[in-house]
Parts: sequence; structure tokens; C-alpha cells
Amino acid sequence: MAVLYVFGSAAPPVLDVERVVEEAQSQGWDVCVGLTPTAARWLEPRLPALESLTGRPVRSTYKMPGEPDVWPPADVILVAPATFNTVNSWALGVTSTYVVGVAAEVLGKGIPLVTMPCANAAYVRHPQFERSLETLREAGVHVLYGPGGFVPDQPGESRPGGFPWAAALKTVETVVSPSP
Ligand SMILES: Cc1cc2nc3c(=O)[nH]c(=O)nc-3n(C[C@H](O)[C@H](O)[C@H](O)COP(=O)(O)O)c2cc1C
Repeated sequence: MAVLYVFGSAAPPVLDVERVVEEAQSQGWDVCVGLTPTAARWLEPRLPALESLTGRPVRSTYKMPGEPDVWPPADVILVAPATFNTVNSWALGVTSTYVVGVAAEVLGKGIPLVTMPCANAAYVRHPQFERSLETLREAGVHVLYGPGGFVPDQPGESRPGGFPWAAALKTVETVVSPSP
């Protein structure tokens, strides 16, 4: 079974993670969930159930030196929702969270990466944001931003239809097939 890592950061769509995992599993993926420490704090009471659902530990911190890897190697990684902070950290190579560290390293390993940012219309006017997306695109990441992907909301608002998770999973499936 092909392995999909779903990496979420601290924007409201991460609260849908169980539904997204179930959808991916129904498409044939073996799913491992990684979270930024802030996203893990948001989901803290739900983490044991999420671990039962995936059959794997949810990871939000680096392992200790000498500890074994607890996950099978990834065939593809979905970084979504990717906050303003996570997008910029990733593009700038600032690997202070586990998920950004893995996503940054994987750029050099050739494992396919898909990301769907989630940042409001004020954040995206920051001059670094577009530069970060461009850096990630140039590095080969499938960035789902704009028509067909995530379209920024005004601060405090949320778009009807919600976060386009289905488009994210569709792209993952296009990049790597879940079944051999
Ligand atoms: C209720 C709430 C909603 C938030 N929504 C977003 C969001 O949609 N996009 C974003 O970039 N940051 C959002 N933030 C801010 C991030 O959670 C914050 O910048 C955090 O440091 C991101 O860390 P991470 O990228 O390591 O998860 C939100 C914060 C709160 C409390």
C-alpha cells in the first residue's frame, strides 16, 4: 500500500484531519499524520483517536538521536493546511518544526510534495508570501493556490464550501497512485 504523509499546521482546516484521513484511506492510502506543535495542541484531545485511525503515532516533534523511525517511508507528502508561517519557514529553510524539517529535507530526496496553503487576504499581501510560493514551485512542489486551489479569505471570514481538501487529495492521487 502506498504511504501518504498528511502534514498539518495551525489553521482551522486542520480540525478536519480525521475526515481527510478517512477519505484518503478509502482511496487506498496508508496515512501517517504529522502536525506542527501548535496544530498538535489544537488537536490534543483527539490525538489518541487519530493514532487509532491511522495505526501510527502522530508526530509533531523530532525523534531523539538513536530512536528508530516509527513510520514507513513516504511515497508522497501533502502539507495542508499550510499556514503563512509554515509556507515561509519551509521556503526559507527554517526547520524549527518537525513537519517543516521533513518537508524541507524531502525536497532533496525527490519524494513528491503537494501543498495547499491557508492564509487570509491580509497575510498573503506580505511580500515574502508570493516569494515563498515561487521558491517552493521552483523546487518542484505542487502548490495548490489560486483558482482550483486555496483562494484567500478576508480576515475572520471563511469561504463557502470550505477548504478544498478534495482538490488536494485529487492532486496527490494524480502525482502518485495509491495502489501499486
Ligand atoms: C483561531 C486561529 C485561526 C488561525 N488561522 C490561521 C490561518 O488560517 N492561516 C495562518 O497562516 N495562520 C492562522 N493562524 C495563526 C497560526 O496558528 C500561527 O501563526 C501559528 O504560529 C502557526 O504555526 P505553525 O505554522 O507552526 O502551525 C490562526 C490562529 C488562530 C488562533
